[in-house]
Amino acid sequence: MIDEILTMIPGPTPVHPRILGALARPTVSHVFPAFVEQFKKALLDFKTLCQSTAGQPFIVAGGGTLSMEMGLVNLVAPGEKVLVISHGYFGDRFGDLAASFGIQCDILKAEWGKAVAPEEVKKKLDAGSYAAVTITHVDTSTGTVSPVEAYLELLKGRSELIILDGVCATGGVDEKFDAWGIDVLLTAPQKAIGAPPGVALCLFSEKAMAKRQSRTSVPAYYSDVMRWLPIMQDPGKYYSTPCVNEIVALGEALKMVHEEGIAARFARHGKIAKSVRAGLEAMGLKLFTAPDCRGDTLSVILLPEGIADMAFRKEMAGRGVVVAGGLGPIAGKAFRLGHMGNIGAGEIVAALVAVEQSLLALGVKVTPGAAVAAAAQFLPEPAKP
Ligand SMILES: Cc1ncc(COP(=O)(O)O)c(C=O)c1O
Repeated sequence: MIDEILTMIPGPTPVHPRILGALARPTVSHVFPAFVEQFKKALLDFKTLCQSTAGQPFIVAGGGTLSMEMGLVNLVAPGEKVLVISHGYFGDRFGDLAASFGIQCDILKAEWGKAVAPEEVKKKLDAGSYAAVTITHVDTSTGTVSPVEAYLELLKGRSELIILDGVCATGGVDEKFDAWGIDVLLTAPQKAIGAPPGVALCLFSEKAMAKRQSRTSVPAYYSDVMRWLPIMQDPGKYYSTPCVNEIVALGEALKMVHEEGIAARFARHGKIAKSVRAGLEAMGLKLFTAPDCRGDTLSVILLPEGIADMAFRKEMAGRGVVVAGGLGPIAGKAFRLGHMGNIGAGEIVAALVAVEQSLLALGVKVTPGAAVAAAAQFLPEPAKP
C-alpha cells in the first residue's frame, strides 16, 4: 500500500505525522492574520536554522531549482562570470542556469565521488575575475560533501559573492551563515528539513542584497528578490499567492528542528550516517564516495557485481522500501540511500533489512543479521516521546 512505503531516497524524505497534520489544516486566506504570523515565524525559524541574525530570508512557492535560480540571477549580471565548484549533477546545474541567463561560467569539476581540492579553487580565483562562486554543500548525485570551510578560507577578504547550495544539507549538516560569511544560502524543505516539497528557501546577506539593489533590473520576474522583499518583510502583503498549506507544514517542520536543537540534529545525522554505513559494509557493500568526503545525509552504494539496478530496486520496493538509482556515470551501477530529516533507528533497521533480503533474493551471499548488528553500535538514541 502506497502509505506503507518507506521512502529512503535522498529527498523527499519521510514526512512526520505532525507535519502532515499541519499540511492538512484548512487552506486559509494568505492574508489571514494567523497565517501571516505563521509565515513570519517560519521565516525567522529558517534564518535561525542557518545560524544567522543578519540575513534576509525568502520563502517562495517553488523548489530547490528555483532557489538556485534566485541565488544566481540576483547576484550575477549577464556578462559577469561565476565560478562553479561542481561535485556532480547538481553542481553542474549551476552551469546550465548560468548559460540560460547569459552569465559566463567556469566550472571546476571533481572526478565523481571526490572533492575539488582547495588549491584548484585558489588557482582559478587568482587567475579569473568572478562575481560569485557557487558551492554545492552536499551533492545528491555523488554523496560528496564540499570542504566548505577550506574553500571559504580562500575566499576570505575577496570580493566574490558566495552562493551555497544547501538543498541536501540544510537541517542535517552544520551551516553557519553569518560566521562563515555566506552571501546566499539556498535550499529546499524536502530533504534534511523533513517537510514536503513545494517551496524555495533562500537567505541573502546584506552584501548580496546590496548587489541586487545596485542593479536596476534582473532578467527575471518571479525570481527577482526585490519583488518578494516587501512580502518577506510583511507577509500580509501580496505579490503572488503563497502556498499556504506548504508554508504551514514547513513552519511545523522548522518548529520540530528547533525543538530537537540544531546541534543535536546535526549530531543525530552524523550517528545515522555512521550506523547506516557500518550496516552496509557488514553486507560486503562498497560505498562509491571517497572516505574523506562523504556527506552525512545520504550514501551512494555500488551494486555488487552482476546485480542489475532495476531488479534490486524492485526487490526493495516489494519489501516496502524505496531507494533511488544512480545518476550520470554511475546510473545502473549504484543506488542512493537517503538518511536525513526526521528519521531514526526504526527506519534505518527497516532499510538495512530490506537491502539484506533483496540481496539474498538476488543470490548475493550475505550473513543474515550482520547489517543490523553492525549498525546497532552507532544507532542514535530514540526520540523522547
Ligand atoms: C543539491 C541539490 N541542489 C538542487 C536540487 C534541486 O532541487 P529541486 O529538485 O527541489 O528543484 C537538488 C534536488 O535534489 C539537490 O539535491
